[in-house]
Formats: sequence, structure tokens, C-alpha cells
Amino acid sequence: MTSANLKGFETRAHEVEAFRSMTAGYLPLKFAYSGSAAETHDRLARSEGYQRVVGSAIDDVAALRAMLAPEGIPLQWADLGPGNGVHTLAMGAALADDASRGRRYLGLDFSRRLMRRAETTLAVSNVTDRAFGEWDFENGPTDAVTKWRSAAPVLWTLNGITLCNVEDPVEVIRNIALSAERPDIVFATIAVADGRDDGQARVAEYDTDVFRAAVLEPLLMAGIAREAGVLELSYAAQEPAVIGLFRFTQGYKLTCHGDAHVFQAGDVIRCFVSRRFTRRQIDALVAASGVPLRGRMKDQNSPRERLLFDV
Ligand SMILES: C[S@@+](CC[C@H](N)C(=O)[O-])C[C@H]1O[C@@H](n2cnc3c(N)ncnc32)[C@H](O)[C@@H]1O
Repeated sequence: MTSANLKGFETRAHEVEAFRSMTAGYLPLKFAYSGSAAETHDRLARSEGYQRVVGSAIDDVAALRAMLAPEGIPLQWADLGPGNGVHTLAMGAALADDASRGRRYLGLDFSRRLMRRAETTLAVSNVTDRAFGEWDFENGPTDAVTKWRSAAPVLWTLNGITLCNVEDPVEVIRNIALSAERPDIVFATIAVADGRDDGQARVAEYDTDVFRAAVLEPLLMAGIAREAGVLELSYAAQEPAVIGLFRFTQGYKLTCHGDAHVFQAGDVIRCFVSRRFTRRQIDALVAASGVPLRGRMKDQNSPRERLLFDV
């Protein structure tokens, strides 16, 4: 039996939450962006496959323009989870018009380390009034936007199909709405089920060395050695979702601030999930969140949709 301690997380609170969830059999994907995982995510985010999954910032802005005509896109922009900032930089450029001179930007993220990368990337952005802050949008509302904003409406963005990867998408929409004010707008991109039943092809879209390294990094931060198990990727058609499971091939004792847990060979930690929303699930998400959907727009080139909520 091998023993290990958690290390490499950004805060003690992250360590405790990661330990508790791992002992319950899952590790929220937010940990795959923070601590040393910010570096592995950055490498993944620069890969072609990731860019394909995340979609085009130019198309995001075209959809926003179409859905928000004639009143136009709000000049205050709260960007939830800017990642390494590359998508945000492109979106800022695509938003550029005369009105963009007055545009203000607030980036909010769970990961301090990744946010520093976003700050560096956005140093050349045409949106020059920029601020950054921390928020775990899976953990309750925030007053960060209230403190930053003026009385004008705010555009909230949740790009990069981030809503597909959180533990509870309904809770995230609710937390955003509770942090927003009328007549703010929330824009989210999601991946949708496209009726194809080719699970292998969907898994193949993800199954690269750079993806495996990014998904495994939070487990390494937890002190679990790569050779303690195997990463199994599959498509769960009933969800539907691409799922990553780390299956222990040996016994492992994990300790965290005085608590201990023993994983047996065969135990699993679900360390990746990327949902593909069905039509019915989108309707259920909107109904359960209680946040009105103003519109939705299909992507022309991929199985993705853009959702626009009125808070
Ligand atoms: C898939 S990346 C998207 C990055 C970028 N917006 C894009 O379109 O490429 C997810 C982003 O959301 C952040 N994130 C994930 N879970 C979060 C949470 N619970 N609270 C706040 N940010 C979170 C991650 O740190 C990361 O910046």
C-alpha cells in the first residue's frame, strides 16, 4: 500500500474539497484548471482539438449580435472562467466597434494561477478597462460584479462549453442569476447531443496525450502516482457525456489535514465529465434554474448551441 499527501493545490480549502470529493468517488473538473494543473490546461487549450471543441469567438460574437439586436451588446462584460485568455482576447477583438471604446471587462475564475495567465494574454486586448477577481461559481453567488459594475447592464459570458463540465449546471445558472441584476444578459455555449451514436468517435476527439496529462494532473497534485491506476475514457450514451475514470490498480492511502482514506485496487474516481445536452435536458435545465431563456442558436459547423438568458 502506498501513502500520499495532497500537495500542489492553490489553497487549503481546495485541498479539503478535493480530498472529500475524491473519497466520494469524483473530482470536480475545476481542479483541472488550478494549481499546477493551470499549466497542463494551458497546453491543452492551445491544442487544435480543444479549439475545435470550444468553438469560434467570432461566431460567438456574431450570435450575440444577432440575438441582441436591436439594443446591442452591453458594454460591461463579466467573463466567467477566461481560461488562459486566448478565447477572450479573440472575443474582445471581434466585439470591437466604435462602442467598444467604452467597454469594461471583469474576468472571474476559480483558479488564481490560470487567471494570471489570462491577465498576461489580455495585456494586448483592445478592451483596456480590465479587472480580475476570484469566484467559484459552483459554490454560491458572488458580489464581485455588484462591486465592480455601474448601473448599466452587464453581459455575463460562460464560454468554452464550461457549463458541460461542471458538477451541477442548474446550480451554476442559479448562482449567476443571483449575482446579476435586471436587465443583465447571460451568454453560455454548450455542446449538444447530435443524434449520432458513435461513442468511440466522441472519445477519440478527446483521447490525446495532452488531454490525458491535463485530466490526470489534479490526481498527481493529490499525491496519487500516475502508475497507481489507469485513466479510462468512455462515452456514456445514457447521460449523454464523455466520462474519464481513474481506476486504481493498487491500494493507496491518501491523507489530508489529519483525515485519511484508503482506495482499494478497482476503486474509481470520476475525474472528467463533458456533457452533451439533449433538447429535453436543455428545457429541464431552464425550467429547474427558473432563469428565463431569451434565445438559443445552433452553431453552423459543430454540435454546439449558444444560450442567452435574461436574469
Ligand atoms: C473550459 S475552460 C474555458 C476557458 C475559456 N473561457 C474558453 O472559452 O476557452 C473553463 C474555465 O472555467 C473556469 N472554471 C471551471 N470551474 C469553475 C468554477 N467552479 N468557478 C469558477 N471558474 C471555473 C476554469 O478555471 C477555466 O478558466
